[in-house]
Amino acid sequence: MAALIIRGGEVVWASGVFSADVVVDGEKIVGLVEPGTGTAEREIDARGCYVLPGGIDTHTHLENPALSFTTVSSDDFHTGTIAAAVGGTTTIVDFVKSRPEESIYDAFQTRRAVAEEKVVVDFGLHPMVPSNALTAGSIPELRQLAAEGATSWKFFMAYHGMMVDDATLIAGFRAAAEEGVLPMVHAENGHLVQDATDRLVEAGMVEEHHHLAAHTHTSEQEAVHRAIAIAESVGSALFVVHVSSRYAAAEIQLARARAVPVHGETCPQYLLAAYEDYEGLGHEAAKYLCSPPIRERANQESLWDALVSDTLSTIGTDHAAFCMGQPDDLPPQKGRGVGYFPDVPNGVPGIEDRLSLIWQAGVRQGRFDVSRFVDLVATRPAKLFGLYPQKGAVVPGADADLVVWNPELRRTVRAADQHMRTDYNLYEGTEIVGGPTHVFSRGELVVEHGEVTAARGRGRYLPRARPIAPTAGAR
Ligand code: URP
Ligand code: ZN
Ligand code: ZN
Repeated sequence: MAALIIRGGEVVWASGVFSADVVVDGEKIVGLVEPGTGTAEREIDARGCYVLPGGIDTHTHLENPALSFTTVSSDDFHTGTIAAAVGGTTTIVDFVKSRPEESIYDAFQTRRAVAEEKVVVDFGLHPMVPSNALTAGSIPELRQLAAEGATSWKFFMAYHGMMVDDATLIAGFRAAAEEGVLPMVHAENGHLVQDATDRLVEAGMVEEHHHLAAHTHTSEQEAVHRAIAIAESVGSALFVVHVSSRYAAAEIQLARARAVPVHGETCPQYLLAAYEDYEGLGHEAAKYLCSPPIRERANQESLWDALVSDTLSTIGTDHAAFCMGQPDDLPPQKGRGVGYFPDVPNGVPGIEDRLSLIWQAGVRQGRFDVSRFVDLVATRPAKLFGLYPQKGAVVPGADADLVVWNPELRRTVRAADQHMRTDYNLYEGTEIVGGPTHVFSRGELVVEHGEVTAARGRGRYLPRARPIAPTAGAR
């Protein structure tokens, strides 16, 4: 007899919704059966609920070294994955940054071991391409990592000490194409950002909210355009992370219209928060500082439109949490840059609330349906990052990463109630209708009505297959 049946729910695929009972045995989904049929040792009543694949967040920065290794983000792989699970995310893909002179291969193995000891859900890792990759011999190491399942590589086009030049983008994207790897870009022109920052500092315009002026639409649009031109020239696919600007999204739209396999992600903070929310806040504006920046409210609706049209295809969080207060056991947090935006660690929290925020503003407010929701937060990330069909779909043979989603569950977002290790929430006070009642990871009930039962270290490292990067425009 199977171990579990989830009964009476509506199963959601990216392509449609239907009534079925979901049968689980061990770590796998073993059947989708007619409602009311089949037997199992345990039944979960999902009447009135949707049964979703576990959310997949391909953009997290847990215990992430920042500002040239002078600080680190506040959520570690334990607290961060607990928060993910509570919100219905059962897979994350985080990043590996190598120290100067450290090999990216060695850094990858070290970080994998650190994470394996702490995670409560499954995880993968994207290596970050070092700025000196061409002279440091990193490309052969990245090829080796791809052979071992790290099938996406991240290139920074901005940030001192991280940003790569065009020669590295060209050689790196070409190597990625040869390996069947998906290159990812943080697309801002780092020279333009630095120049604008220098001018703002000279002019004494250094309050937290001036961060926006240092990170213009133009610097993001130019970098997206250039990354696409390089990808198109060498024949690689491309994934643009955290698209924040409507002009950057327009570059992706143009490329996809001529069938360049460019894929774009945006994040809840660009859809739901705005410059107008932090302009007058003094140091409290540090809560909102991330790069690219949270832009003017008039920019938001174009990003929603881009999600509807599939110009943008996934929603990740870019979760990089820092505290406003200063816990004793952490290096300097947001307070590092009081009154001086260049010293504020960049990043915002979001790993816990991604599904519920996008449900509320996307599905409940009628921008798209529940299938598109599942595609954006689970199925497409799985396909693009080599996890499908093990993850990202409610189908027999897949890992039983499942979320029972009650569309009527009500809660108010409160930092005081959250599991993310930070002392604020950008969406404080937001009323949300819809959320997870049961979250399963590989068949194990890890969260029930908000109570976490998952053991530290139960999550597994995921060697990933080559991405399924569909032709632009295809779903
Ligand atoms: O400000 C951000 N986004 N911090 C995290 C690192 C990155 O650029 O993605
Ligand atoms: Zn970035
Ligand atoms: Zn990021």
